[in-house]
Amino acid sequence: MPLARLEAERFRGLEPFAADVDPRYNLIVGPNASGKTSLLEALFFLGRGRSFRTRRVPALVRHGEADFQLVGTLRHQGLPVTLGIRAGRAGTEIHIGGEKVRSATELAAHFPPQIIDPEIHKLLEEGPAQRRKFIDWGVFHVEPTFLADWQRYHRALRQRNAALRAAGRGAPLAVWDDELVATGQRLADLRSSYLLQLEPFLRQAGRALLDLDVTLVHQAGWNSELSFTEALQRATERDHRHGVTHVGPHRADLSVRVDGEPARERVSRGQQKLLASALTLAQLSLQESLHPGRTALLLDDPAAELDAERLERLVALVRTLPVQLFVTSLRGDLDGLGTPGRRFHVEHGRLAAD
Ligand SMILES: Nc1ncnc2c1ncn2[C@@H]1O[C@H](COP(=O)(O)OP(=O)(O)OP(=O)(O)O)[C@@H](O)[C@H]1O
Ligand SMILES: [Mg+2]
Repeated sequence: MPLARLEAERFRGLEPFAADVDPRYNLIVGPNASGKTSLLEALFFLGRGRSFRTRRVPALVRHGEADFQLVGTLRHQGLPVTLGIRAGRAGTEIHIGGEKVRSATELAAHFPPQIIDPEIHKLLEEGPAQRRKFIDWGVFHVEPTFLADWQRYHRALRQRNAALRAAGRGAPLAVWDDELVATGQRLADLRSSYLLQLEPFLRQAGRALLDLDVTLVHQAGWNSELSFTEALQRATERDHRHGVTHVGPHRADLSVRVDGEPARERVSRGQQKLLASALTLAQLSLQESLHPGRTALLLDDPAAELDAERLERLVALVRTLPVQLFVTSLRGDLDGLGTPGRRFHVEHGRLAAD
């Protein structure tokens, strides 16, 4: 569902505002340090219950205040649905349609935004945790039962690790292993089948952005020649020695291949940004094909990071996606994206519709 209106108070350096937004294309223009990325961060938080810049919620609260508040109004079949968030040092409280909900994941069923920002290359450059998060976000949208298995798996894993630490060599593990294997195998299967679904979208985005054949290999978190049970058994000795579980979906990774070889060894830094953008746009396209009219794309100052030709390619691809867009820019309109339905100006944290 597209967002129709956003209100924010005490969020970062932004002055309190209430803004009606366009269901298709919103452009936010302003100088450095004016609050453009903060605005995208508020939108992201509204759908994900977290920031893409920091894990620390208090960093998002305006200096000197205790909490911030965000209210988003969506249109669902003509009727408004309200998402409300209050968050700060004391925790995060979320309301959907006036009802308090327990988990931030419920927000994403209403407004699941994706972001492409100057840090996006980290998806490929940094450790596997980011890539697992990327896969899991996608899987969750295709198969919501994934979340329950994910939670059960991680509970069993914590208990198994605690047993390993507490009892060392003699730790009885069989009680946790059944649960670990059952839920872990399901996680791995769901991730695999999700990545198969994602791949055609990624190949298309990879060709459009980079002229390269981009493919994916899922590394489940254990030696692929063994079953999870066998791999777990073989690692038991090592697990006892180090007091931690070495194999399983918590160690999974996603290997991105370019023309069949690991991307890391093949592409430049600029290409890495495009490759990570291709992954994000592929995920968005798949999501959009399954739940049309629900997704939003946040593009943070794309012009600052890419040369003219790459920017043109990115913009051309983004334009084909039927999603709600929020784009920031230092200077003004972006060639190729058409005329924004709404144009905002930010200066010293003050947001104004042009
Ligand atoms: N919690 C906070 N309280 C008050 N001000 C904050 C807070 N967090 C960040 N700021 C201020 O907000 C400004 C940064 O805003 P933001 O990163 O959104 O700018 P921007 O328009 O995206 O800039 P750029 O074009 O450089 O990317 C900084 O001046 C920063 O000091
Ligand atoms: Mg910025």
